[in-house]
Amino acid sequence: MKYAPVTERLASLGGAKWGVHFRARALAAQGRDIIELTIGEPDVLPPQQLVDDAVTALRAGRTGYSNGRGEAGLLAALSARYSQRRGQIIGADQFLCLPGTQTVLYLVLSALAAAGDEVLVGDPMYATYEGVIQASGATMVPVPLHAEHGFRMQAADVEARITAQSRVLFLNTPHNPTGAVLTRKDLAELGEVARAHDLWILSDEVYEDLVFPGISFASPMELPELAERVIAAASISKSHAAPGFRSGWCVGPAEFINRALPLAETMLFGNQPFLADATAAAILHPSPVATGMAQRFQVRAVVLAGLLDGVAGLKVHRPDAGMFALLDIRAMGMGGEAFALALLEAEGVATMPGESFGAGLAGWLRISLTRPDAEIAEAGRRIARFATQRG
Ligand SMILES: Cc1ncc(COP(=O)(O)O)c(C=O)c1O
Repeated sequence: MKYAPVTERLASLGGAKWGVHFRARALAAQGRDIIELTIGEPDVLPPQQLVDDAVTALRAGRTGYSNGRGEAGLLAALSARYSQRRGQIIGADQFLCLPGTQTVLYLVLSALAAAGDEVLVGDPMYATYEGVIQASGATMVPVPLHAEHGFRMQAADVEARITAQSRVLFLNTPHNPTGAVLTRKDLAELGEVARAHDLWILSDEVYEDLVFPGISFASPMELPELAERVIAAASISKSHAAPGFRSGWCVGPAEFINRALPLAETMLFGNQPFLADATAAAILHPSPVATGMAQRFQVRAVVLAGLLDGVAGLKVHRPDAGMFALLDIRAMGMGGEAFALALLEAEGVATMPGESFGAGLAGWLRISLTRPDAEIAEAGRRIARFATQRG
């Protein structure tokens, strides 16, 4: 049978990146003692209030069809939250509600880019970005993110890759996998490039609430000169430890939202009213679980650095946000994948090879900080032992 080219473009993505993770699961199923630091699931349950609100709404019969834009109560709550956070009035007509950031990214890129267009995106990047860009038909143009700049995207690196086909600058702040948070100055400089070349800016801000104490978050939405070209995406997956709720949204110029609405309707015909009600109530107040997660993840990164920095030339890159730390293993003379597989077999510690997030992270490991303190410390000791033996 014949298939559309999109199936070809996406066929090679996915599986290979998760080789260490799948091997770890297989070893655990055989009874091996495995510390799994591959994926980043929040280490707490969602707030009880969120669950109660969803159940109450379900019992109240909030189970009918919604509409492509989102439930009125959620749109109003989003308008209130973003107006307050971004320091300007952001109307309910500037949002579309969708099941999670992932769907938003798919929809936004489908609405903005097509075959022949180029999407500039930081390398390393979150594992699904290549797929959402490829699905649109556009070409991905990786912009290297350098450790010496704290993995914050530099405007000059974007400028150097601009062509007549450049269409979208895809940002992720706070960033997965590096934990980098773009500063207002970074955003102003990146915004200049976007304006000079008439690019859209798509900003994945799903980790906004997991910025570590002492670090400030900034969004390109806060820069008035970018108002007509910024679309931001987020959800309650991270902020409320509720990835299974699949409750997210995008916010952008009303004109973009109106253009994208038929696409959203075509894909989904709206998301679930009972989840929308629970989300609306949750986002009007600071999340009761986000601060605790951010504090714990920051401490765990420090613990890892204390155990690993300097051991056989290893170095922990300390994140400013999010759920992961990066370990620089380049001094060991092994690629990330080979190191991660050997570490898993020898010590039962599962980590993600940096290469899974792009060529720019070859020779690094991504370590999830979402396991209990004692497990993180034990993993640090095992990695140190492994590196000392191999070093
Ligand atoms: C950078 C980034 N964007 C998007 C997502 C997906 O988020 P959601 O659950 O809202 O679809 C993730 C999940 O890990 C992520 O790390």
